[in-house]
Amino acid sequence: MNIFAFENMEEASQTLARRICVAAQRAIAENNHFSLVLAGGSSPRRLYHLLSEPTYADQLDWHHIHLFWGDERCVAVDHPDSNFLMAKETLLDKIAIPAAHIHPMPGEMRPEDGARSYQQDIELFFAGTAPVFDMILLGLGSDGHTASLFPGTTSLQENERLVIAVPAPLTMSPQVPRLTLTLPTINRAKEICFLASGEKKHAVIRRIIEGQGQEYPASLVVNPDWYLAAH
Ligand code: 6PG
Repeated sequence: MNIFAFENMEEASQTLARRICVAAQRAIAENNHFSLVLAGGSSPRRLYHLLSEPTYADQLDWHHIHLFWGDERCVAVDHPDSNFLMAKETLLDKIAIPAAHIHPMPGEMRPEDGARSYQQDIELFFAGTAPVFDMILLGLGSDGHTASLFPGTTSLQENERLVIAVPAPLTMSPQVPRLTLTLPTINRAKEICFLASGEKKHAVIRRIIEGQGQEYPASLVVNPDWYLAAH
């Protein structure tokens, strides 16, 4: 676990964008593709903007990159709470990535059906081999949740399925059902990077790093790197 602390989200996002470019170039050289799982929420907005700008976009061979999501709210793709919509506006609409390389979670489907459908999409992509994503980006909630794995829920015990539907969280907005990758799927990834900012989250992260945050779902992510912005 590496902890990279930054003064602000701009510096954190620039550094993580550089790391994504390096990881993508290495994965494409080795395996002819790079599978990147995008985080939801608002923290990655600047990062996604950066990845759409020539400085980074020109280093990324989008024809060999596949984009997935770590979680999605069960809303229409044009709903303001959609994680896909945020990525579409900040990144997808500005890069020359083949449509077939964009793998959104079907938030508009009945949640259980959406989870099954996305699991099939992942299994198809990995063609029957273990689904090992090259890199997973994660956000952190102030309650220690990550993706849509919320504290004290049975989702944290899911060991079979790759993707599950979870009920609307009572303490976090938006209060809608969500689809989320499960912990084993996240922990199988080659690289896992958290991107978070703000004092409230720093207290959660400190407890996790000190091995005190067992109640936080984010503490169950194995060997992630942390990109932390002071504000
Ligand atoms: C979601 C996210 C969630 C998010 C955290 C942090 O769908 O809400 O995936 O896990 O990453 O809640 O959200 P912010 O970046 O907006 O603080």
